[in-house]
Amino acid sequence: MADENRQDDGRRPGATLRAAGVARSFAGVRALRGVSLELHRHEVVGLIGPNGAGKSTLVNVLSGFDLPDAGTVELEGREITSWSPHRRGRHGLARTFQHSHAFRSLSVRENVEIAALGVGAGAREARRRAGELLDLLGLSAHEHATAGALSHGDERRLGVARALATRPAFVLMDEPAAGLPESEVPGFEAVVRSVRDEHGAGVLLIDHNMALIMAVCDRIHVLDQGQSLAEGTPGEIRENLDVASAYLGESALVEAESG
Ligand SMILES: Nc1ncnc2c1ncn2[C@@H]1O[C@H](COP(=O)(O)OP(=O)(O)OP(=O)(O)O)[C@@H](O)[C@H]1O
Ligand SMILES: [Mg+2]
Repeated sequence: MADENRQDDGRRPGATLRAAGVARSFAGVRALRGVSLELHRHEVVGLIGPNGAGKSTLVNVLSGFDLPDAGTVELEGREITSWSPHRRGRHGLARTFQHSHAFRSLSVRENVEIAALGVGAGAREARRRAGELLDLLGLSAHEHATAGALSHGDERRLGVARALATRPAFVLMDEPAAGLPESEVPGFEAVVRSVRDEHGAGVLLIDHNMALIMAVCDRIHVLDQGQSLAEGTPGEIRENLDVASAYLGESALVEAESG
């Protein structure tokens, strides 16, 4: 399907990825307790909260790597709760992983090309996307290196390139900037903005770096112990965090802010 069509879809009210009332427990641990979240095209939504808040679990449910115990996932108005990750990928939903899922013995370039081929791109188109994305993510110098030999920061960037190679309408990024040197964070912010502004995608961004989250997000959703604590613009959330720390002292949110 053509990218231009996706752009048009983005202006329809239905062009949304939605979790509604999602619950998920693991052996008594209530990782998610009725979480609802919407992600639209052309926006970056931050998903923040302390370690164990349920952020990765929500991404797993949204991307089809896990099934919720209750609640639904909808993509552009269709219920997709039980769809496989691959089927979601072909319908414009991509993700990155908190821990690398690259093919370690294949080259960096091959990893990106395979991601494009996996959603139906032809060989020539896959090569074109790989070249463009390796350039965007600053990985061109490593294109022939094996993925297993990359530094942690480059491995994070490869994960983003692999997700973007599917030309997603929605991309869920689980701590893509963790381990990046501080000097490389502004470059990463530019990548996230270009995914929103040039590709028109909706981006869900998990990160513990509050400066990055505040700088790049249009909206922020705060999770704590499996529940939604707050949602709003960066300004509103900043105020909320200040209020929480003023009243609660060393709250979990303050930990999240510095973690
Ligand atoms: N597969 C699993 N089996 C058992 N418990 C799990 C599993 N996945 C998540 N959990 C538990 O669910 C809770 C939420 O975990 P999750 O990984 O979603 O948190 P998170 O917000 O992503 O944390 P972090 O910031 O550390 O990545 C935690 O208590 C975690 O131990
Ligand atoms: Mg996580």
